[in-house]
Amino acid sequence: MKLSRRNLVLGALLSAFVLTGCGKKEEAANVQAPTTPAAEVKEYVVGTDAAYAPFEFENDQKQAEGFDIDVVTAIADKAGIKVKFINTPWEGIFASLNNGDRDALVSAITITDERKASMDFSEPYFEARQLIVVAKDAKVAKFGDLKGMKVAVQTGTTGDELVQKLLGKTSADIKRFESTPLALKELESGGVQAVVADNGVVINYLKNNADKGLISVEDKDSFHPEYYGVAVKKGNAELLGKINEGLKAIKADGTYDKIYAKWFGENK
Ligand code: ARG
Repeated sequence: MKLSRRNLVLGALLSAFVLTGCGKKEEAANVQAPTTPAAEVKEYVVGTDAAYAPFEFENDQKQAEGFDIDVVTAIADKAGIKVKFINTPWEGIFASLNNGDRDALVSAITITDERKASMDFSEPYFEARQLIVVAKDAKVAKFGDLKGMKVAVQTGTTGDELVQKLLGKTSADIKRFESTPLALKELESGGVQAVVADNGVVINYLKNNADKGLISVEDKDSFHPEYYGVAVKKGNAELLGKINEGLKAIKADGTYDKIYAKWFGENK
């Protein structure tokens, strides 16, 4: 009896102490304890325009999936860094590096001199080329045949740049879309006569839409090889170094080839 009464008094005193704020220091210390700096691992945020199968697309769980995602995940594994992918619309994807929203971008991004002026790129990880998509019966054998036709492109892509060179920057014949699938839908519905876009995406689309009466046309004289790179903010040498180190490692140990085979078949 005596003991429990003493405890009651002690308890009351203690509550008073805490309630009056004298215990604040202790509380604060308790809150901080689980997040000591040593336990913190920086997670790099990677932006990707996930409307570009098979490089990046949203799966049923709304997670980004695809060749690019596998490559960067494997790179991060080797480099000992953590990454998280965030779907980021193509329009504004480059700005997201500069304002710090994203640490890196993987999005089938072609390394170009113009882009190199405002961001840094990893070593190339994929070779691509533009393809023309037209209706089966269209009289198009080469890029130049698109003159006088309406052509759809994804805004601000290398396909857009090439079509601008052919038809003129301000040509009313160029119809721009925020994604490549939307540009292809426009061709399907007859709003344009052609699309110019990266080969990997076009081939994947035609395979999955075989009933739409569309074909692809190659023009190696007009379309030269393009190389995809992972982009980081200009001057972020630390992250770029890790990405290049990881890329080298996955190319050396066969991981890259396995990922390539998973998405594009065995033949490189
Ligand atoms: N390779 C082209 C470029 O860099 C198109 C890339 C578009 N990528 C995407 N995920 N939408 O301009």
